[in-house]
Amino acid sequence: MANDAEPLLADAPQQATALLGWYVRQQRRLPWRNAPSPYAVLVSELMLQQTRVETVIDYFNRWLARWPTVADLALATQADVLAMWTGLGYYNRARNLHAAAQAVMAQHGGAMPADEASLRALPGLGPYTVGAVRSIAFGLPAALVDGNVARVLSRWTAFAGDPNQPKGRAHIWRLAEAWLREPLPRAQPSAWNQALMELGATVCTPRSPDCPSCPVLAHCKARAQGLELGIPPVRQKAAPQLVRAAYAVIVADPVLGAGVADSAPVVLLGRRPDDVRWAGLWEPPGVEGLDCLDVLHARLRAEGLEPSAPLGPIVHILTHRRYEVLVVPVHCSRDALPQLAAFGYPELRLQTVPDALGKESGLSRLAQKLLELVV
Ligand code: ADE
Repeated sequence: MANDAEPLLADAPQQATALLGWYVRQQRRLPWRNAPSPYAVLVSELMLQQTRVETVIDYFNRWLARWPTVADLALATQADVLAMWTGLGYYNRARNLHAAAQAVMAQHGGAMPADEASLRALPGLGPYTVGAVRSIAFGLPAALVDGNVARVLSRWTAFAGDPNQPKGRAHIWRLAEAWLREPLPRAQPSAWNQALMELGATVCTPRSPDCPSCPVLAHCKARAQGLELGIPPVRQKAAPQLVRAAYAVIVADPVLGAGVADSAPVVLLGRRPDDVRWAGLWEPPGVEGLDCLDVLHARLRAEGLEPSAPLGPIVHILTHRRYEVLVVPVHCSRDALPQLAAFGYPELRLQTVPDALGKESGLSRLAQKLLELVV
């Protein structure tokens, strides 16, 4: 284990000073960096997984304004939690965060625990998140490795293995832990871990690292060998799975002469079941599969509705899936709506179009894109 770290740690004090000094000067000013509570760190770190910093800032601020403490979040409904997460994707993170807040209330009297075992026992907290909470929130010398840290440490040491494979991952974790046994990083674990992530996000980027701006350029073994673009090895991505789908955006016109509540067009939405992707989120009624358009047309006609010509396809890309979605606009009177069958959704609701397009509507991002095409 010590051998793994030796080449990196030979002139460790100079290297650590260079990185920490850079972080103090160059770090982005982010809302979760101002004396964060352990809860705020957990919220920010879960939001930041798979999501860019620029996107997270607004979500983080709204989240903490709505639920400033663990206790507040524990009392929220899951529907409100999902609605607040609208557009961030990977909605299991939201469900886990909610469940974790409830566990902190039930098992830890509302105080986030600092020890590794208790944190690991909370829903949705893996080794990365545990390291982040312990180091950033509690100032403990706990390592963390995410994609940025793995790339930075791999290049720094010219590690030729693959940090996405178990052996390579274990090696990088040992390196990250070894650094936190050094005096300087151990004294500032929060700054150290965030500096590694910040360097990976802003300078030591995957395809176009800005090596001349790097505070540890003089120590970087990959750069010295001209290997920075080949380390870590470029991953061969599997082709995304193609999913065809058709959705009906059923809009009922405003009621003429009605009060404010009825003066906006409304759209029909279904809540996705609990055991599928985007569970619990709302969307216009839709069908997936090669014959999706035919099936959707048949369902609409069975309800006495006449579909217009489909729009699209809209292409919506997730990590492993590529959605190609046709959008069928349907206009009808409000009287026609309550007679609609459930289209296979556990629950249906009507929502005004502006509310459905709002930031906290509980619609998936794809669902909002479909609406935007029609209204
Ligand atoms: N990515 C995830 N968490 C981060 C943090 N605290 N600082 C910089 N990048 C991050």
